Amino acid sequence: MPVISVSGLSKSFGGLDAVSGLSFDVEEGEIYGLLGPNGAGKTTTVRMLACIISPSGGTAAVAGHDIRADPVAVRRSVGVLTESPSLYERLTAEENLTFFARAYGMTDDRKVSGRVKELLQFFQLWDRRGEKSAVFSKGMKQKLAIARALVHDPPVIFLDEPTAGLDPEASKLIRDLITEMSQKERHTIMLCTHRLEDAEKVCSRVMVVNMGRRVVVGSPDEIRSEVAGKAKLEVMVANPSTALVEAAASVAGVSAGAIAENGRLIFELDDLNAATPLVVRALVESGARVLTVNTFLPSLEEAYLRLIKGDGWDSR
Ligand SMILES: Nc1ncnc2c1ncn2[C@@H]1O[C@H](COP(=O)(O)OP(=O)(O)O)[C@@H](O)[C@H]1O
Ligand SMILES: [Mg+2]
Repeated sequence: MPVISVSGLSKSFGGLDAVSGLSFDVEEGEIYGLLGPNGAGKTTTVRMLACIISPSGGTAAVAGHDIRADPVAVRRSVGVLTESPSLYERLTAEENLTFFARAYGMTDDRKVSGRVKELLQFFQLWDRRGEKSAVFSKGMKQKLAIARALVHDPPVIFLDEPTAGLDPEASKLIRDLITEMSQKERHTIMLCTHRLEDAEKVCSRVMVVNMGRRVVVGSPDEIRSEVAGKAKLEVMVANPSTALVEAAASVAGVSAGAIAENGRLIFELDDLNAATPLVVRALVESGARVLTVNTFLPSLEEAYLRLIKGDGWDSR
């Protein structure tokens, strides 16, 4: 049984279809990424699944509860990190978490303080627990905001742009903590991001969304290999010619060859390691004066940009 099951979910704002007929399942313990550019509909999707706004069409079940029939039960089962996390700046880190634990209905003081301590320690804020969150750095505030979303130990967690506004070092720390947290507590996590790196490093599966619609779903590796295309070999020669391209393109394992605008010869290869030496040898035997040889593996970034913009192969 999937923990999140979404079917035809849609939301329009006036004439704008922010989310159009999304369907997907998230399994227990997964970190499922919603990856897409600004305005793709990620936040709107999460707000519907967390029962903050109601859908215009379709439905979903979250932790076994229907979002239309039982929004109260859904809200109890989810923790949400929103795009603009609201902490009480005049409360200390510890007071913030304690406040939200009580607000979520935790009444046993020992349980509350135990959970708060556990989270502050996990997010490396225990030593700073007595300081007001106003004085915290952006990264510390973000850690506290994630801890806040976890305080009542919900089975499902929505993290909306958890690394937004953070520098690379703080972003990496947040990514590492999310991964570790998922292993330790076995929450099901849905992570929205416009940052490819977040999706690639943290998520077991990713759904790429654009303009409210699903573009593709798969593991980062699957998306890379399905969409990014083949490895490329780029050879700079002193005497480029179509004859050289044709000679090298007839080598086994070469699926395409061309002269790029910058005069370099570019080949698409099925297997970079096997075909590269054969191509270079064929070029030399055909009279090429080879200056440099570069190889390029397809990147997830290339795949992602292609999905979002529909770019062609020879974009470099
Ligand atoms: N409350 C709202 N009223 C009107 N339009 C909205 C509202 N919320 C979001 N939108 C629009 O819906 C689209 C999707 O927004 P959003 O879900 O925030 O995208 P993302 O989180 O992927 O950046 C955008 O065009 C946005 O301007
Ligand atoms: Mg958003």
